Amino acid sequence: MINGFDLLASFYDRLAKLVFGNNIKKAQCEFIEQIEEGSYILILGGGTGWILNEIFNRKNSVKIVYVDTSLEMIKKAKLTLEENWSSQVIFVNDTYQNTITKTPFDVIFTPFFLDMFNDVEVSNIIIELSKNFRTNGIWINTDFRNTRKINQKLLLKIMYLFFRAVCKIAACKLPNFEKNFYHNGFKKVTSTFFNGGIIESSIYKKIEND
Ligand SMILES: C[S@@+](CC[C@H](N)C(=O)[O-])C[C@H]1O[C@@H](n2cnc3c(N)ncnc32)[C@H](O)[C@@H]1O
Repeated sequence: MINGFDLLASFYDRLAKLVFGNNIKKAQCEFIEQIEEGSYILILGGGTGWILNEIFNRKNSVKIVYVDTSLEMIKKAKLTLEENWSSQVIFVNDTYQNTITKTPFDVIFTPFFLDMFNDVEVSNIIIELSKNFRTNGIWINTDFRNTRKINQKLLLKIMYLFFRAVCKIAACKLPNFEKNFYHNGFKKVTSTFFNGGIIESSIYKKIEND
């Protein structure tokens, strides 16, 4: 079966810029400074790869496992990655379920990834990935957010119709990210809004048991 994201890969970033200006990028870069040097990072559904250079330009000793099910996105990400960082990235053209590593991640980054799944799936993803995550690690989630604005509600509806038709994503509405993180032992420690509030970048951390 054709992967819909393969069809979008060549113009995905231009399309995102057309609709959201630079906010898609700004939101994903918001918390790069919070990543500690030397961190072992998992990026899920990274897309075309521009985020890799953004991270390495600020944090040059990190190591990244970059997972995306779209072969075209992975190809593009490999081309986009500046050569001097290539030994610090492992590209995985597969789903997160098949990304097995022995070392726990210090940072998990889900940029516009969890919105493709329904609440049950999001919860399962959090449970699964938590098993391979350092107790004091940070989970950066950048994604869309429901607002009361009619034009933004409409935009989200159109996006879901589009991605369901082209990319066959399972979800038909935004899951409740915060609730799913909370129910699985995480709390939101900070967040920033973009593009009139429809985009939110957040850091989640594991709730420490006393
Ligand atoms: C909405 S796009 C976001 C791309 C990028 N993060 C951005 O914001 O520009 C979602 C990405 O997740 C990838 N993807 C979809 N399902 C996936 C899965 N189960 N595991 C890993 N990646 C997946 C798609 O190929 C696509 O590149």
